[in-house]
Amino acid sequence: MQERSKSKFTVTVVGGAGKMGLLLSKILKDRVGAVRISSRDSMRAKEAAESVGVDWVSNDQAHTSDIVVVSVPIDQTVEVCQNLGQRMNAQSLLVDITSVKTGITDAVVGNTPSSVEYLSLHPLFGPQVRDIRGRRCIAVEARGGPLTDKFLKILSECGASVRKSTAEDHDKAMAVIQVLHHHALLAFSSALNKVAPNMGLSEYVTESLEKTLQNLESMQLNWQTISAIQKCNPYAQQIREAFAQTSNEMLSFNENSRAKLQHAISLLRSP
Ligand SMILES: NC(=O)c1ccc[n+]([C@@H]2O[C@H](COP(=O)([O-])OP(=O)(O)OC[C@H]3O[C@@H](n4cnc5c(N)ncnc54)[C@H](OP(=O)(O)O)[C@@H]3O)[C@@H](O)[C@H]2O)c1
Repeated sequence: MQERSKSKFTVTVVGGAGKMGLLLSKILKDRVGAVRISSRDSMRAKEAAESVGVDWVSNDQAHTSDIVVVSVPIDQTVEVCQNLGQRMNAQSLLVDITSVKTGITDAVVGNTPSSVEYLSLHPLFGPQVRDIRGRRCIAVEARGGPLTDKFLKILSECGASVRKSTAEDHDKAMAVIQVLHHHALLAFSSALNKVAPNMGLSEYVTESLEKTLQNLESMQLNWQTISAIQKCNPYAQQIREAFAQTSNEMLSFNENSRAKLQHAISLLRSP
C-alpha cells in the first residue's frame, strides 16, 4: 500500500444512507477533509452520518462539495447526476458508482457542464466488505482532470486496485462477470425450487455449497442492483441465450466438461 495522506477536499455522498453510500463514507472519512451524507430524507441522512461518524448535508446543498459521489439505484443515476452536475462548481468532480455504464455515462456527459469533471466508477465489491485493501475498481474517466486523478489516488492509497476502461469494454466484461454469473446462480435457484421443493436439505449442505449459499444470500440483499444489471446491461440477453444453449448441449454428462472447467479457470485467472 502507498503512503497514506489526507486531502482537504469535501466529499458529499448522495444516497449516502444506502448500502454502498455508507461503505464509501466510512472508507473516505479518514482520507479527505470532510465527508457529508445526503439523503432525500434529512433524518435518515443525520442518522446514517452519526452511525459512521461523518457530517450530513441537506439534499439541496449536496452539490456544494468539491467531490459529489452519487450512490443511487442504477435507473436513477442519470437524473440525479444531471441535477447535481448542473449546479456544481466549476472544477469540482462528479462520481457515479453504477454497475452498468452504457446509456448512463454518455447521458451524464451530455447533460452536465464541461467545467465539471466526471468519473464513472464501478467498485467490484459489495457493501459487506470492511475495507477496500486489495479490492478492484473499474474507472471510466468520462471527463478527467486534476480532481479525478486525486480521487483515484485516494482509492489507490486505500489499497484498491484501479483499472481504467471504457463504458463499452466495462459492460462487455461485466456481462460475463456479473450477468452470466448471477444468471447461472438464478438458474440454479430455479432448478432447486423445481427438483427439491420439500426435501429438508439443510443438514446436507456441504462446505462448497455453503459458499454458493452465501453468494445467493448476498444477491438477495442486493436484489435491486442484481436485477438492474440483468435489465440494463446491453449484452445481457445474448449472454443468457448463450447460457441456455450451452445448458441444452450439456444434457448428457460429457467428460469434455473438465477441459472446459480448466479453461474457464485460466480465462478468469490469467491477467
Ligand atoms: N450493492 C452492490 O453490491 C453494489 C456494488 C457496486 C456498485 N453498486 C452500485 O451502487 C449504487 C447504489 O447501490 P446500493 O446497493 O447502495 O443501493 P441502496 O442500498 O438501495 O442505496 C441507494 C440509495 O439511493 C437513494 N435513492 C433511491 N432512489 C433515489 C432517487 N430516486 N433519487 C435519489 N436518491 C435515491 C436512497 O437513499 P435515500 O432514500 O436515503 O434518499 C438509497 O439509500 C448502484 O448504482 C449500484 O449499481 C452496488
